[in-house]
Amino acid sequence: MAKAHQIVVWTWGIRNTFRSLVAILTTILVVSAIYLTQDAGQACEQRVVSSDSIPKCDLFFGKWVFDNESYPLYKEQQCTFMSDQLACEKFGRKDLNYQNWRWKPHHCDLPRFNATALLERLRNKRLVFVGDSLNRGQWVSMVCLVESVVPRSLKFMHTLANGSLNIFKAIEYNATIEFYWAPLLVESNSDDPVNHRVPERTVRIKAIEKHAKYWTDADILIFNTYLWWRRPVMNVLWGSFGDPDGVYKGVEMLRVYEMALRTWSDWVEVHVNSNKTQMFFVSMSPTHERAEEWGGAVGENCYTEKEQIAKEGYWGKGSDPKMMQLVEKVLEDLRTRGSNVQMLNITQLTEYRKEGHPSIYKKQWEPLTEEQISDPRTYADCIHWCLPGVPDVWNELLYAHIFHQ
Ligand SMILES: *[C@@H]1O[C@H](CO)[C@@H](O)[C@H](O)[C@H]1NC(C)=O
Ligand SMILES: *[C@@H]1O[C@H](CO)[C@@H](O)[C@H](O)[C@H]1NC(C)=O
Ligand SMILES: *[C@@H]1O[C@H](CO)[C@@H](O)[C@H](O)[C@H]1NC(C)=O
Ligand SMILES: *[C@@H]1O[C@H](CO)[C@@H](O)[C@H](O)[C@H]1NC(C)=O
Ligand SMILES: *[C@@H]1O[C@H](CO)[C@@H](O)[C@H](O)[C@H]1NC(C)=O
Ligand SMILES: *[C@@H]1O[C@H](CO)[C@@H](O)[C@H](O)[C@H]1NC(C)=O
Repeated sequence: MAKAHQIVVWTWGIRNTFRSLVAILTTILVVSAIYLTQDAGQACEQRVVSSDSIPKCDLFFGKWVFDNESYPLYKEQQCTFMSDQLACEKFGRKDLNYQNWRWKPHHCDLPRFNATALLERLRNKRLVFVGDSLNRGQWVSMVCLVESVVPRSLKFMHTLANGSLNIFKAIEYNATIEFYWAPLLVESNSDDPVNHRVPERTVRIKAIEKHAKYWTDADILIFNTYLWWRRPVMNVLWGSFGDPDGVYKGVEMLRVYEMALRTWSDWVEVHVNSNKTQMFFVSMSPTHERAEEWGGAVGENCYTEKEQIAKEGYWGKGSDPKMMQLVEKVLEDLRTRGSNVQMLNITQLTEYRKEGHPSIYKKQWEPLTEEQISDPRTYADCIHWCLPGVPDVWNELLYAHIFHQ
């Protein structure tokens, strides 16, 4: 909306310029005619570019800039709904520079995150994140980004569907920001939001309705699924869980990933009206579990990291380009069928942030063993992200996309 406003102001300025030009140059008729034609041509061209629904500037191509004036966008202790999994400062982290980085696209600036504007946009609407714990982290970040503008008595958090659906509600706006746990998007034996650590992972590759019924009528949807697939072979179930006639088979992961994405995209195409619903797919979130990949010592990981990776274009071995290409292909196919899901291409920009993980600074659900305590690297979390931190920027990118469509 801000953009449309700018365009109007800009065009108005040009029109005034036209008038003065015409007034001054009436005597030199031929010259002024040529001049005006050219100028009008340019104005036309620029308008087409500016009103394009997709910003011309690639928001994901840029660099991190240290900015401790504007960042963090909220304080960890002040977020009512902060998660102990992500509250690194609370759990003892002393170096806090990871909170102070702004993402600067090379050819433009990210719009400022305005919590009130977003809540206005979400009035009488549901914004739903669907996916794994990385997506849950982004949901917590989004809640922290907006909740400070809502008084305590006008907001609450509750869960449905046995804990699979977490709902933040801003009462005055009748707006919700939700997270639905479905780490593989399709049905799997890891669907319990609490007890999902199973030795052998099994997916029901054609089944998604059990999950999808909770999010099909949302107004903004943000999906992800990646980390739970990182194994060479997946166990696929044809039939239902507990069905004695069900057929189990080990299948190469990449093929299963594609099948799952197809099941998901077929559902989206048929059941989600993409004229009404904005949809996004968040690309892989990188991990930093092997320091030798960025020139550190063998055996080290993100533990004790305090600096970013400086090498432009750095890409770790934990981020599988083939899986990313599969997602791109599936989204492209969806587009040809009239369903638009935009990729939030956060992988490259997040690769640099090896210092942004919780490492050992988070709540430990299981007591640590002596062995672990003597070597903290063994239990450092180099997968998720401290808040405030990297996921706030993913949400700023999401914000930019929500308002530019
Ligand atoms: C920001 O960082 C600079 C350099 O580290 C420091 O001198 C300054 O005091 C910091 N400002 C704030 C507001 O923290
Ligand atoms: C944020 O958005 C609200 C509602 O659109 C607007 O009134 C307010 O001026 C904006 N704040 C800033 C700092 O831009
Ligand atoms: C409140 O929001 C929900 C969507 O989350 C919508 O279905 C409902 O109609 C809204 N209520 C009012 C009174 O507008
Ligand atoms: C919640 O879990 C119970 C026991 O596993 C199950 O019977 C019930 O159908 C579940 N409810 C929902 C809404 O998923
Ligand atoms: C979406 O909008 C387009 C263009 O306005 C229209 O042709 C199409 O039928 C709409 N699709 C749905 C599902 O409403
Ligand atoms: C996402 O970013 C990567 C690396 O920056 C690039 O190779 C890829 O083409 C991008 N994908 C999309 C869909 O923009």
